Amino acid sequence: MKLRTPLALVALFALILCSACGPATTRTLANKQKMDFGVAIKAGDIFDPVRSKIIIDNFNLIVPEDSMKWANIRPKKDFWNWSDMDAMVAFAQKNKMKIKGHTFLWHDQNAPYVGSLKTREEAIALLEDHITTIVTRYKGRVSEWDVANEVFLEDGSLRNSIWYRLIGDDFLDVAFHAARKADPKAKLILCDYNTEYAGSAKGDASYEMVKGLKERGVPIDGVAFQLHVMAELPLDEEAIRENIKRFAALGLSVSFSEVDVRVRMPLDESKEAEQNAVYEKLAKIARTEPTAKSMILWGFTDKGSWIPRSFAGFGSAHIFDTKLEKKTGYDAVMKGLSGK
Ligand code: XIL
Repeated sequence: MKLRTPLALVALFALILCSACGPATTRTLANKQKMDFGVAIKAGDIFDPVRSKIIIDNFNLIVPEDSMKWANIRPKKDFWNWSDMDAMVAFAQKNKMKIKGHTFLWHDQNAPYVGSLKTREEAIALLEDHITTIVTRYKGRVSEWDVANEVFLEDGSLRNSIWYRLIGDDFLDVAFHAARKADPKAKLILCDYNTEYAGSAKGDASYEMVKGLKERGVPIDGVAFQLHVMAELPLDEEAIRENIKRFAALGLSVSFSEVDVRVRMPLDESKEAEQNAVYEKLAKIARTEPTAKSMILWGFTDKGSWIPRSFAGFGSAHIFDTKLEKKTGYDAVMKGLSGK
């Protein structure tokens, strides 16, 4: 190319500089820190111009909030509903985002025929078929999977889900081996809530379980702390860091995978300040722990949020408001992601 005029030269320089000159967003900060900063979305979000722009501008990873759950993706044993997931995977690829899958082995949001399983053999066959079919379809495109979700009760015992009840103690082994076999490169994760603190019954039980899985060669790469938390409860940063470090010692990474910070309504300034402190601290921990580096928000807007439906009296849990405008929580996350 021959540049004939000074104007053309200026234009060329502007073009080169431009990739770094837009306003900083949570996505650009996360990229700088080599972090995943993600969000759970509904398939409809990607067809809504306002919502999809927010997602593209601010996140480098997406998770289907509900589209991949058993009842949705496979409502009948021989009927697969791929359209939402296919659209989300294409959206992620087009916009250079990672995509995380959620979830296979779970006690909730299963199709009715899952509840009618009767024997260990039937349960293993169906679970393996389910995992193999989905992971194979998205092999090389979905980079990580919540293979199992919420398998513990608060006292650290195992939840009596259909999978644990029928398959028994090696239920997780079955699921993780099937996922690894279908895509050897995908990152495989065990996800739960209230497991973030070392020293809590549930946190310690999940650590012991994962240690056992590693010892017997089960292919697990990471654990996810959901972190659906309350603004009014200050976080115990030390107990979270201690937990991340002990998983790191086992060779596992940690992700904060379903973050929302709910407020007891009505909202006021001091509650908002509490909430912002939690958002900032979580982003800071994720940024500064070398084996964490992953924070995923469970939705970005209060409009249509799952929180008021699931936690009576609570709301305002996200960093964009019901008009899809940034809240002060957005700046709190920016601070946590940048350290400034
Ligand atoms: C929630 C979704 O956000 C809601 O839309 C749905 O109605 C219920 O499930 N832990 C999980 C998520 O692992 O899958 C749940 O998602 C929230 C709690």
